[in-house]
Amino acid sequence: MEEMAPSPPTMLKILLPLLLVPLVLYTRLQTPARFAYNCFIKPFFHRTSESDDSNDTDSSGNIPQKARLEAFYSGQADLYDNTRTALLKGRETMLQLLASHLKAQPEKITRNGERGGPGGVGMGRDKKIWVDLGGGTGWNIEKMDEYLPLSYFDAIYLIDLCEPLLEVARARIKARGWKNVHVLCQDASSFVLPEWESGEIDPRGSLRAITMSYSLSMIPPFYQLLDRCDQVLDPQRGLIGVVDFYTSRDTGNKERAIGTASKRVSWIAKWFWECWFSLDNVQLHASRRDYLEYKMGTIKTYNARNNFLHSWFIQIPYYVFLGCSRARDATANLKAFTQEAGNYKGQTTGGLLTPLSPFGTPPISPEMFGMPALDLGPSVVKGVNVNSGDDETEMNQTLYDVGAPLSPFHYHLRKSWRVPYLEEKVHEQFRTHIYGWTWEDPAVDVKKLNINKDDHILAITSAGDNVLHYALAASPARIHAVDMNPCQGHILELKLAAIQALDYHDFWLMFGEGRHPDFKKLLTTRMSPFLSSHAYAYWLTHHRQFSRNFYFRGYSGWALRLAQIAFFLSGVSGDVKKICKASSVEEQERVWRKRVRPVILGRIMVKLFLGNPMFNWHALGVPVNQMNCFLQDGTVEDYITATLDPIPKLTTLKDDNYFFFLCLNGRYTRSSCPSYLKPEGFRALKNGQATNAFKLHTDTILNVLRGLPDNSLTKIIVMDSMDWFDPIPTDQPLPPSSSIAPDTQDSTPEKALVHLRSELDYEIQEMQRVLSVGGIAVWRSAAKRPWYIQRFELAGFKVQPIDIRENGQAIDRVNMYASFWKAEKVA
Ligand SMILES: C[S@@+](CC[C@H](N)C(=O)[O-])C[C@H]1O[C@@H](n2cnc3c(N)ncnc32)[C@H](O)[C@@H]1O
Repeated sequence: MEEMAPSPPTMLKILLPLLLVPLVLYTRLQTPARFAYNCFIKPFFHRTSESDDSNDTDSSGNIPQKARLEAFYSGQADLYDNTRTALLKGRETMLQLLASHLKAQPEKITRNGERGGPGGVGMGRDKKIWVDLGGGTGWNIEKMDEYLPLSYFDAIYLIDLCEPLLEVARARIKARGWKNVHVLCQDASSFVLPEWESGEIDPRGSLRAITMSYSLSMIPPFYQLLDRCDQVLDPQRGLIGVVDFYTSRDTGNKERAIGTASKRVSWIAKWFWECWFSLDNVQLHASRRDYLEYKMGTIKTYNARNNFLHSWFIQIPYYVFLGCSRARDATANLKAFTQEAGNYKGQTTGGLLTPLSPFGTPPISPEMFGMPALDLGPSVVKGVNVNSGDDETEMNQTLYDVGAPLSPFHYHLRKSWRVPYLEEKVHEQFRTHIYGWTWEDPAVDVKKLNINKDDHILAITSAGDNVLHYALAASPARIHAVDMNPCQGHILELKLAAIQALDYHDFWLMFGEGRHPDFKKLLTTRMSPFLSSHAYAYWLTHHRQFSRNFYFRGYSGWALRLAQIAFFLSGVSGDVKKICKASSVEEQERVWRKRVRPVILGRIMVKLFLGNPMFNWHALGVPVNQMNCFLQDGTVEDYITATLDPIPKLTTLKDDNYFFFLCLNGRYTRSSCPSYLKPEGFRALKNGQATNAFKLHTDTILNVLRGLPDNSLTKIIVMDSMDWFDPIPTDQPLPPSSSIAPDTQDSTPEKALVHLRSELDYEIQEMQRVLSVGGIAVWRSAAKRPWYIQRFELAGFKVQPIDIRENGQAIDRVNMYASFWKAEKVA
């Protein structure tokens, strides 16, 4: 049979894909291929050919940087922007931070700023000038327009050495019609603005903003560059934003003060990335970032990894930094620490978390805020061996290492809520929060303790709900919120910042619904000026906590998840919903008795979960010592029965008992939520002065008490934390007043943590010293009559019950504890 030749349409069907595939491949791969060639292959060949050309080398035989840059970028300037989105991460964050802080900082010039001269402000100081050093194609400037209109600035200068990139920038400026944006082809380390040359403006302190995105690592004379930035940045209102790759291995006191102890990079990653980037003349050595953090005051800093190409093995370390001149007046923040936060005494005897507080007595002198002397360092500590262990010497050393000029707390722009703290190894134990909401009834506290505007209160932070309630209900003069888990402090800081910076709708989404679709953006663009650097970095890393439901995150979130699973498996999820919707206590009671109670008090639940010490600690935050407290009065079942049975009879969850409502419903409603979440509560806190009372401490109660002056508190509310201590034999005398708590003698915070549980007597003695006469220490306990009452009495307190849970009655809407006590200082 004659072979059939393919007909023309069939041939077309075969040929067309053959022609199209290479075409599609070419268009798809052309950009990445050109990018890869220019970045990874061309540098090898170019090096050789350039060095052959004697015209392109300087007197020492090196290729000048301008020639190198132009050779590197010439083949890729047109595709620069498209190929850098994934590679140069963090640029938007840096620009957003800069914009939000420029908007939030007070415009007024402070006393120091008016002095003029070096570090002061000369002619033209009110002109707002932004300089983008190594600005390349002008991408940053276009982005910035989204966060802060470019018209905010009187002049914007893009400075770069590379003509091919500057051509792209010029075209961009022309296309957008920006009149205040100018391009200068200059070396960033010696840049000069036309206003300076003409004498219109004194260069010193003349810039409101400087940015460097991925250019600090490329500019060879970086000392000169950063010194120049420091000279020309407005010392009072100027801000500098940097984003870049980095490597770092050893971190010291500076990192602990700044909050970047986590920036450590493994030796292999350090070696690899330094070698890899040096092929393109990008220098990642730690010295650049170190000098930046030393030269400028840190306001915000954040470490991250770029998983370029979405691979797990490519994780390039990068950082975002927002800083200011170290000559900026930080006296207000210093006062906030030494006076308002009550650190007159300082923790010079050695605390658990800040063994050598850099912020103790004597108060840091104003000279500390100027530029440090050149002889800064161990040699200036006269005649004493710095390793001798001498307290005062070490204290001085720490002051130099991590004192005011470096700590970001001192350059905080708005509301110094958070008391400075050093990052400790022990903090690594607290990767997340234990309590997502506060599990005690603050309305009962206000009523029974008569909390009022003259009170100076110390209370445990937890999730901050209680202290916010006190502020709203009674506006006390001072509230020291104390928690040794930094994450709990981060939650309260976030609530305070959100109240200050957001409108009610956004605030409700975050803490009423537990999720906000734009949380990450709001964090940087709106809330960041009100957050400490530590809290900001934490929330940026943990922004996903608000992507679905914040209340299901952290340790307490596990309890909610497990409860939901248990309800589902036992087929009572519908009944739980009925309880949440019930309009009467009778209806609540009926569903509870018939359906839900048998599940919660069933054998599996009690044996596997509620009676299990591991579950109690990890999901409910109940340690073994506390379990022993309630086991002295009965069984686990007795305790749960006495806790839960009275609840449905009290008030409806739907309208009042927001504690249990949250646990069953997973989120609040407007009618069932803490008062600070209601519109009127939110408004009162936002517009009033009540939040000025807050000082958030990241430390143990004992350490914070140690720092406070005698007779300075009226109320100490320590929740159930007394139950956590190890029992002390009744015949053991109190420690002599001159003795030092065991934790302070430990060499590491971890070892000290072990001793902490044995320090109840020390805490009671400090309470006695710090409370004013008539002042009270208040606690709730899982025991009806806790063992430590005797210790308070031994220290001279008059101890009385406020309430004891008896005869199936609840003591408050949470009813989680068997008793509520107060110890009054009588003399
Ligand atoms: C990785 S690019 C970053 C460009 C831009 N900032 C961005 O984020 O897209 C580094 C830039 O620094 C510029 N650069 C390097 N050394 C410089 C110097 N000494 N003076 C001015 N610019 C320089 C390069 O030309 C290049 O535009």
